[in-house]
Amino acid sequence: MIITLTVNGRRTELDLDPRTTLLDALRHHLALTGTKKGCDHGQCGACTLLVNGRRINSCLALAASHDGDEITTIEGLGKPEAMSDLQAAFVQHDGYQCGYCTPGQIMSAEAMLAEVAEGWPSYVTRALDDDPTLTDEEMAERMSGNLCRCSAYPRIRQAIGAVRD
Ligand code: FES
Repeated sequence: MIITLTVNGRRTELDLDPRTTLLDALRHHLALTGTKKGCDHGQCGACTLLVNGRRINSCLALAASHDGDEITTIEGLGKPEAMSDLQAAFVQHDGYQCGYCTPGQIMSAEAMLAEVAEGWPSYVTRALDDDPTLTDEEMAERMSGNLCRCSAYPRIRQAIGAVRD
């Protein structure tokens, strides 16, 4: 089947088996390998990207169900010579060890910061707050869908906090 995706601002048509996941469509059909496959079961968050500005696990999504959607991957955030603020903060604060989970962490953090800016309820207290304080506990809860097997969590949260501040 033919589907159309706008990936990192570029509209593209793909001829895919309807069973193809969004993750595999990006990695195998568009050579966008920044989005990683960890568990392939929706448990690790390595495959996190943005669909119409919201974070999803792309290993759980069929590409066909996103026909017409806008996809943002780690490749769409910045460039080596002009990193996004969040990418630069991860470098500055050593927000990684092996780096495999990093694209998913950064994409998830991008979406999480937008959710906070929009006043989404606290994940910890469930309270509505126009400008919730992003405590370490709150950030850990909001980022809990992204696992880091090296346990670089404190530095990941430092990096995110530096952008938030
Ligand atoms: Fe998608 Fe692990 S690869 S959640």
